[in-house]
Amino acid sequence: MQGFFRVMPLMGAAAWLLLSATAWSGEEEKPPLHHVPSANCGECHKEIYLQWSDSMHAKSTALNDPIHGAVYRLEAGDPTQEGVTHKATGAYPPCLQCHAPNAARDKSTKLDANPAYSEGVNCVVCHTMKNYKGIHGEDGKMRMGAAAYEFANDSLQGPDGGPHGSKPTFAPGSGGGEPTVNPFPQQANPMLFKGSDACLGCHQMMANPQKVAVCNIGENLLGKNTPAPTCQSCHMPVVNGFVSHEMAGGHDTNRVKKSLATTVAAKAEGDKVQAVVTLKNTLLHTLPNGAPFRNMVVKVTALNDKGEVVWSNFKENPMQEDPQSVLMLKLVNDEGQPVMPPQATKIGGDSRLQPGEQRQITYTIPAPGVKSVKAVVLFNLMTKPMIEKIGATIPEDLKKPAVVGQADALL
Ligand code: HEC
Ligand code: HEC
Ligand code: HEC
Ligand code: HEC
Ligand code: HEC
Repeated sequence: MQGFFRVMPLMGAAAWLLLSATAWSGEEEKPPLHHVPSANCGECHKEIYLQWSDSMHAKSTALNDPIHGAVYRLEAGDPTQEGVTHKATGAYPPCLQCHAPNAARDKSTKLDANPAYSEGVNCVVCHTMKNYKGIHGEDGKMRMGAAAYEFANDSLQGPDGGPHGSKPTFAPGSGGGEPTVNPFPQQANPMLFKGSDACLGCHQMMANPQKVAVCNIGENLLGKNTPAPTCQSCHMPVVNGFVSHEMAGGHDTNRVKKSLATTVAAKAEGDKVQAVVTLKNTLLHTLPNGAPFRNMVVKVTALNDKGEVVWSNFKENPMQEDPQSVLMLKLVNDEGQPVMPPQATKIGGDSRLQPGEQRQITYTIPAPGVKSVKAVVLFNLMTKPMIEKIGATIPEDLKKPAVVGQADALL
């Protein structure tokens, strides 16, 4: 394994593929399972491979996710160098436990050294997870991402009982083709794979160096619903006969749109108009959710009979001009000023829609001649100050607000 590890970075992806395929079916020395690149699995599980390739799991490292990449470079360093440390603590960057778990298992920080590192959360990350230990260690320290799992080094893990690899069958998600024999030793592990434990090591909670829980999807899902639905029940539906690996979230506008119902009602009262915007979160977790800089802004405008805007709830800065129109988890410093997640010392408020919440926001519109009121809900992957700070290297489409809800009321 030592020898293999040394020569590996010199080989191209094709050679890697060939070698690992023959290594696993032949007698030669086997590469460790957590170095098998996803393209190898994709030879048989074609459809699953394509779904995964489009997901954020495949783009989770600083090399492929420009948003994570910009923050990682600030908080740690160059993802192509060995020996990088977390600036706040001087330790191995905790980020890699979740964003590049195969590298974390080897304590490497040179993410271009191996396709199984640069692929981030790839097939073998999840399919070698054997047992979930939980994110709270006995010593009181957090165990995040890969550190929260025990891994199998000798067999892949999956949801079903088999029999595995005994005779040619259709690989799940193969998209047709010929029956094949599963080339990997495979172990049934339904207790882990059919429940949220398969996700919670990386998704339950993320604390910054000041121990502020900057992300807590699992906590709020598990805490508020009994019995809690599994993550897979929404994120991994069976489509075309196999479990989907698309795992869409905030990067998929259509997915967010589906989670929100928006209406607006308006009536004239003397020379004013009373408008009520109603938002309903149809999810069992908060909306927005996940990364704390995700936010939604409700833009309300009143139009006259020529369709001209005669009033709006804010011009430039919704947070200052109309705070109720901003839905987000507010991370602040001791002085109460908004800061980036790593610097937060406390939670300054939470205006996100809670699971299942229906919220009304009311406006008294003073403008005369109003003929209609329009509400548009915008979803942002990042906050404005964050874009100002790290936006230079981030593509425009990730900085632009996405319309995830809209409604009109005529008077
Ligand atoms: C040569 C084709 C081939 C390759 C390459 C391959 N598989 Fe499979 N795989 C199969 C077949 C056939 C089955 C169904 C029979 C079985 O379960 O053993 C299967 C089943 C599975 C299952 C389902 C087991 C369950 O519990 O439902 C998982 C998970 C899986 N493979 C993951 C992987 C991963 C991860 C890789 C890459 C490391 C991979 N496979 C590479 C052919 C392949
Ligand atoms: C983020 C974790 C994760 C990643 C990454 C991942 N899987 Fe899975 N996979 C799962 C879970 C969880 C299940 C079981 C879901 C269930 O049964 O509800 C599963 C199920 C499967 C199955 C069985 C599907 C079926 O319908 O029988 C196969 C095959 C499989 N995965 C292959 C792959 C391959 C190939 C890749 C990489 C291209 C991959 N997985 C990447 C978590 C993952
Ligand atoms: C080994 C760690 C790990 C595991 C296990 C894992 N994830 Fe993830 N997941 C991540 C990371 C890291 C990201 C963020 C990638 C990014 O945006 O850079 C992510 C992103 C996501 C997203 C967001 C996609 C978007 O559009 O922003 C969803 C949804 C998701 N995961 C669902 C799941 C589900 C469901 C499971 C369990 C079946 C799971 N994950 C298991 C690490 C993991
Ligand atoms: C009832 C269905 C449902 C369940 C259960 C569920 N999710 Fe989600 N999740 C969604 C939808 C829909 C979205 C897209 C809306 C959004 O981004 O807030 C989403 C978004 C996400 C995101 C992306 C947030 C962002 O903006 O980038 C992550 C990560 C995620 N879920 C992980 C999980 C995990 C982990 C679990 C289990 C602990 C889980 N979800 C359970 C429906 C669900
Ligand atoms: C416990 C696991 C975990 C750790 C540790 C972790 N992250 Fe993440 N990170 C995630 C998950 C899961 C997501 C996806 C959440 C979502 O989609 O809302 C994410 C998303 C992000 C995003 C947003 C990416 C995007 O495309 O919008 C950034 C930026 C980020 N993380 C930076 C970091 C940095 C920097 C570190 C280390 C200081 C770190 N993370 C440590 C799990 C983790």
